[in-house]
Amino acid sequence: MTKTRIFSGIQPSAGSLHLGNYVGALMQWRDLQDDHDAIYCVVDMHAITSPQDPAELRASTRATAAQYIASGIDPTKSTLFVQSHVPAHAELAWVLNTLTGFGEASRMTQFKDKSARQGTEAASVGLFTYPILMAADILLYDTAVVPVGDDQRQHVELTRDLATRFNSRFGDTFVVPKAQIGTETARIYDLQDPTSKMSKSAASDNGLIRLLDDPKRTAKKIRSAVTDTEREIRADRQAKPGVTNLLAILSAFTRTPVASLEEQFVGKGYGDLKGAVADAVVAELEPVRARTLELLDDPAELDRLLAVGADRAESIAQATLARVYDRIGF
Ligand code: ADP
Ligand code: NA
Repeated sequence: MTKTRIFSGIQPSAGSLHLGNYVGALMQWRDLQDDHDAIYCVVDMHAITSPQDPAELRASTRATAAQYIASGIDPTKSTLFVQSHVPAHAELAWVLNTLTGFGEASRMTQFKDKSARQGTEAASVGLFTYPILMAADILLYDTAVVPVGDDQRQHVELTRDLATRFNSRFGDTFVVPKAQIGTETARIYDLQDPTSKMSKSAASDNGLIRLLDDPKRTAKKIRSAVTDTEREIRADRQAKPGVTNLLAILSAFTRTPVASLEEQFVGKGYGDLKGAVADAVVAELEPVRARTLELLDDPAELDRLLAVGADRAESIAQATLARVYDRIGF
């Protein structure tokens, strides 16, 4: 039986990935790699849609790949590579650019948000066409399923539209992929502002748990998480966002449904809950951090693993690109 092909990626981010990336992406990727043909990419070409420092980008690309592996993405089971190592991404993106309507691209809400933050004049055309590069990432690998967060739903929809359009204009070429949207408990919120998603662009560093934070710092941030003035430990996203977020984190790290946790914590206080969250998170992330540092200590070996991944990715991507070029008349 051939396994279902999945593709996903994260941008290299300065310093470290965070708990939201870990629960919302890496944990699921790790589970999916056993019974799927999984391709996981560090999308450095997407990262340059915001101004970058070259040395920092190079370091964070390696560090992100190391965090994938340290989180359990096994480079012998999954194809793990860096986007810019496979030139077909840029080549297919160009072709897809010519099939995307300007109005269609203008409707992408993430561009509106990000360009508002960067300033409309400063925002690059690359930021504008970001979703088209993402479509190329997905379509190059005959991807059937794209595991993503809710915020990427519109981009996967565009990818499906482009694949369908190409197929109807030039003949059957692309697999039309489906999005697999993570569950609500897979979404982690800021510890200090639990109504906003935990994000690398967080306002306060104390709201963000980094995979490479030292364990003491992680525990301290969790113990300082914002809760509410009640005493009851129950999930209620509207009325009790802080407690709900702590329960979601504990649920993810103990693989226990939130309802069972609510039962376990009857009669206990917020201090007990925070202690349990801190213990569970530290126990799982401490070895991830240690393994990441070990991998970064041997850059030649890390680069070797990434070169193996790029070779495998390249051979799939080149076959797709050759099909596309033939169809469009190159
Ligand atoms: P950020 O929001 O910090 O910029 P990205 O947008 O680069 O993170 O997200 C990379 C991956 O991590 C995506 O699959 C996204 O859905 C997931 N992710 C990011 N933040 C969270 C979060 N707070 N909770 C769950 N998943 C998240
Ligand atoms: Na994001």
